[in-house]
Amino acid sequence: MRFIGAAFTALGLLGLGACADKADAPRALAGTDPAEGLRLIQSRGCAACHKIPGVAWPEGRTGGSLAGVGARPMIAGRLPNQPEVMAAFVRDAPSLLADTGMPLMPLTEAEARDVAAYLYTLDDD
Ligand code: HEC
Repeated sequence: MRFIGAAFTALGLLGLGACADKADAPRALAGTDPAEGLRLIQSRGCAACHKIPGVAWPEGRTGGSLAGVGARPMIAGRLPNQPEVMAAFVRDAPSLLADTGMPLMPLTEAEARDVAAYLYTLDDD
């Protein structure tokens, strides 16, 4: 884990050096709005199953806390934590992991990308 942390730090430093080019950011989703993502998370009921920083209530337990999810190497322990995968997972997890407890959620593709953008702001446990 220490090695992974160091690799992320190195990526962060590279990102600072090239901040004019947003495509270099490792977890960026082009054209997304994290604030809209938080509104969607609140209105579509994610917190019924997850504790989510930024959402005061409820604090569901079924799906675990999403604190720090943006910095985890894997999604649900089995998928690479990459923006396009995260956007697909929050919308339709069962199509990626047939046996997952995370249900199909009522989000459009664009909404799912905003939700993923908010989750990537949760990069610290
Ligand atoms: C009915 C309960 C339920 C709801 C509602 C729900 N989830 Fe989940 N979620 C789960 C469960 C259970 C898991 C664990 C899945 C697994 O490990 O296969 C999970 C896993 C996740 C993960 C992976 C977490 C990790 O540690 O890697 C993310 C991200 C996530 N959910 C986001 C969301 C978002 C965003 C919403 C709303 C759009 C949402 N969930 C709604 C139950 C739920």
